[in-house]
Amino acid sequence: MLRTLLTDRFALRVPVVGAPMAGAGGAALAAAVSRAGGLGMIGVGAAADPDWITAAAAEARGAADRFGIGLMAWNIPRRPDQLDAAIAAGPALISVSFGDYGPALGPLRRAGIPVATQVGDVASARRAAEDGIDLIVARGGEGGGHGDDRVATLPLLQGVLDAVGDRAIVLAAGGIATGRGLAAVLAAGAAGAWIGTALLACTEALTSPGARRRLIEASELDTVATRVFDIAQEIPWPPGYPGRALANDFTGRWHGREAVLSASDGARRALAEARRRGDFETAFVYAGQAAGSLAGERPAGDVIAEIAGSAEVLLRRW
Ligand SMILES: Cc1cc2nc3c(=O)[nH]c(=O)nc-3n(C[C@H](O)[C@H](O)[C@H](O)COP(=O)(O)O)c2cc1C
Repeated sequence: MLRTLLTDRFALRVPVVGAPMAGAGGAALAAAVSRAGGLGMIGVGAAADPDWITAAAAEARGAADRFGIGLMAWNIPRRPDQLDAAIAAGPALISVSFGDYGPALGPLRRAGIPVATQVGDVASARRAAEDGIDLIVARGGEGGGHGDDRVATLPLLQGVLDAVGDRAIVLAAGGIATGRGLAAVLAAGAAGAWIGTALLACTEALTSPGARRRLIEASELDTVATRVFDIAQEIPWPPGYPGRALANDFTGRWHGREAVLSASDGARRALAEARRRGDFETAFVYAGQAAGSLAGERPAGDVIAEIAGSAEVLLRRW
């Protein structure tokens, strides 16, 4: 068994957190990851209602003995009701990523819930350690979905571990999809991996059949970190957090032409319509470069067991 600060703190059998993935990872995926010995997270979208959070948490609690909830920091001032509902659900961990997590810290501390945040540079990791964040996730730019894309996982992880590794539990995220990736970050000194893309084609994920097919066919070259889908949906993501998605006709047409896109009603309508039809040449499939490792649709328990099992074999060899 791979034992780390992470597994000790959360009583896990596997040093893996199933990353929160709004729209892709709900209660079923979170519970499956937790049943496999990791810590599964429920991803909360910017528009999710508190009732959705309460229901998802109840479902996860009924199916596994622990789960976490992931919120977006920039959204909390607009939607404090999400934070209230997440705290009331009593998860093992709440992550508050992408923006100022400060306003959430007081309520989370008072509730006694451990806090995670994803950082994209070493200075942010230092600030998080000074703020007493329990779990600092060094999330590299190759990761799926939104995040700071300036630094790749390995240079980031090395810098973050050197800077704060003695003060916080540090996890690595971005591009980790196999036992090789988990073994590499554990050997470097991380307490575990925060894994998203590798779980997107799991049977328990909310991924639609069309998106699943594209994910399985994708190679590591097929993604782009872009703001075009947020601009065309008028979602106010702060500019420093593009979303890494599968490249398609829409990104080919608009990535790099964001100013024109923001004035285009036609593009907005086309994206909304494509989402309704499930046309992923225009609609988005958020995923990281690890999409290249997805071989097929599998239960999350099998994916987690294989990642942990093969990491252990690799680490033993050394
Ligand atoms: C489809 C998708 C949705 C995501 N949604 C969220 C989210 O709601 N909240 C969050 O903190 N991170 C979100 N992320 C980012 C993940 O937490 C994590 O940074 C990323 O998946 C790690 O890289 P990987 O995809 O290469 O494993 C999302 C990622 C993906 C792929």
